Amino acid sequence: MSQLKPHVYFNSSMDSADDWRDALATEFKEFKFSVGDDVEDPDSVDVAIVWTLPEMGFEQFTNLRAILSLGAGVNQLDPKRLPANVPLARLVDATLTRMMVDYAKTAVYRYHRKFHLFERRSRQSSWIYIPPTLTDTTSVGILGLGELGAEIALALRLEGFEVLGWSRTPKALDGIETFTGRDGLQTMVGRSDIVINILPLTEETRNIFSRDLFQYFRECAYFINMGRGMHVVEADLLEAIEAGRVEAATLDVSTVEPLPDDHPFWNHPDILITPHVAGTSIPMTAVPCIAENIRRALAGARLSQQVDRERGY
Ligand code: NAP
Ligand code: GLV
Repeated sequence: MSQLKPHVYFNSSMDSADDWRDALATEFKEFKFSVGDDVEDPDSVDVAIVWTLPEMGFEQFTNLRAILSLGAGVNQLDPKRLPANVPLARLVDATLTRMMVDYAKTAVYRYHRKFHLFERRSRQSSWIYIPPTLTDTTSVGILGLGELGAEIALALRLEGFEVLGWSRTPKALDGIETFTGRDGLQTMVGRSDIVINILPLTEETRNIFSRDLFQYFRECAYFINMGRGMHVVEADLLEAIEAGRVEAATLDVSTVEPLPDDHPFWNHPDILITPHVAGTSIPMTAVPCIAENIRRALAGARLSQQVDRERGY
């Protein structure tokens, strides 16, 4: 139990402030916890723990030493609007990673074992035999081989799938063929029965799934988006499905969340929507990582998982 007495500011529309206050109490004997717009003594706030940027911004926190994202991604914080001199870190915790791996496996197996067809045929009382195949007959290409992508890749490899992966810088992962660069991406998607996106959203990756890329997809490929909605040009995905380039898609994220009622993704026979549930940060398991970064911030040390503001992730 730390003897430090940090003043923590908390803001999230998704996470419970009470649960995070309770979790922090397991790490710090004494701490001040402020929530909402009316913060008493804002000059004394040391660290902000946030999912999204509060409307009032951070200007009043004149001595802020760190901004800690409650997610693995940081784009939702609009990093360009954050004070440039305050370090920003994302949250990487083992529970979130496990959940992401589980989600990827579930979505991949659903296509590999054709459950998406059987679900539809069940509604139609239609008994049509499709011979099952072993995992090594299905290839999975993953965009993003970071903390989450690498774990997903290794887990799917362990299940026997042929796994390919793409990242900005070269990677060596046991049993996984890796690619970089635009040519590498086109080659990889052209060899993948199932394409998974787990990239961070940056200026370089925004709209990466557009007509330009879908044209290189293998005919009747499956697409799983676990990254961010803004990685996808949604009209181009619909067009790719219409053209048979993409057979079906599982989308955990969308450009606008919640997905608007009148969005064409709803009720589309080839699209499964999950409401941004692939992975979530659970306070009691994630708090050691957050507490470690609070201690680092107070000591003036570099944060763990500190975001490179130039790179955007
Ligand atoms: P990470 O550790 O930062 O890894 C990012 C990966 O993407 C790295 O392999 C990186 O390449 C690659 N990358 C970045 N920009 C690229 C580019 N321009 N071209 C090619 N590759 C590029 O991130 P992470 O922890 O794995 O998380 C990834 C994202 O998952 C988060 O940013 C978030 O948006 C999303 N997420 C979604 C959920 C959900 O519930 N749906 C939950 C958690 C996270 P290098 O390795 O070469 O740097
Ligand atoms: C969730 O989307 C996250 O970024 O952790």
